[in-house]
Amino acid sequence: MESQEPANDSLSAGDGAGTFAPAGADRGVPTVSVRGITKHFGTIQALRGVDLDIYPSEIVGLVGDNGAGKSTLVNIISGGVQPNAGTISVEGKKVSFSSSLEARRLGIETVYQDLALAPDLSVWANIFLGREKPVKGPLGRLGWLDRKAMANQAQADLERTRIRIDSVNALAGRLSGGQRQAIAVGRAVAWGSKVVLMDEPTAALGVEQQERVGELVATVAAQGVPVLLISHNLPQVHKLAHRVVVLFQGQVVANLRSDESSVDEVVSWITGAALGTRRP
Ligand SMILES: Nc1ncnc2c1ncn2[C@@H]1O[C@H](COP(=O)(O)OP(=O)(O)O)[C@@H](O)[C@H]1O
Ligand SMILES: [Mg+2]
Repeated sequence: MESQEPANDSLSAGDGAGTFAPAGADRGVPTVSVRGITKHFGTIQALRGVDLDIYPSEIVGLVGDNGAGKSTLVNIISGGVQPNAGTISVEGKKVSFSSSLEARRLGIETVYQDLALAPDLSVWANIFLGREKPVKGPLGRLGWLDRKAMANQAQADLERTRIRIDSVNALAGRLSGGQRQAIAVGRAVAWGSKVVLMDEPTAALGVEQQERVGELVATVAAQGVPVLLISHNLPQVHKLAHRVVVLFQGQVVANLRSDESSVDEVVSWITGAALGTRRP
């Protein structure tokens, strides 16, 4: 990897984290583009000028040691945390969010490790949670919720993402961890999302279920919706992602195409070993 002169006091980000593009490919406008994102919590500098682009259909792995700033970055893109500086653009337009709801309205969906499914509700009710479809009552007022339409829609959404669930009427709490995660992903995709952010989605899952979620990520991306995937399962991320972005102490230090790098190389950036001589 080539080193560049850092523009500020940052650790060099290898080939330029924000401007990554494979040779010869016109990748168009990034779905999500962040520039110069900085965030501190009191005296803790969680992010220091992070640039990141996510293109349509792309799976981007976001990795780094504990405390590197991965969740903070995802939370900023998904509107839950406000940055101290920097910009976010969605499909080329600058946006700013004061809540995660605002980000969701723009198609930024986030799947967390804790799944956030309601165990006592059916699969379809979970998919529509917070977005229930109202039907006009006889006097023109909002009447009942159109349960059948929602169940049918949920079924279609899950089929589209090739998630196999016996019945959308099953209670979410009865499903396996892998199925629940699949529904959380399916829900994100069902809402016409522009990008899906996943923060450790497989951390609580067994090996086989991790594989299933991996397949789902690939399916989502193949439908044009890019995925930003945080995971400690480096072999899986490296295999699944088109490129892997490494955060180290709040900075992007590497932006590696998976087909041009090894897991060992990724690890060496995560630990800081690869920074070696390059560190100020
Ligand atoms: N709400 C918060 N308040 C204070 N410090 C925080 C908060 N969120 C994150 N941090 C700190 O910011 C740094 C980055 O954390 P985080 O983004 O969670 O890292 P990662 O997800 O890579 O493990 C850590 O030092 C963490 O303790
Ligand atoms: Mg985290």
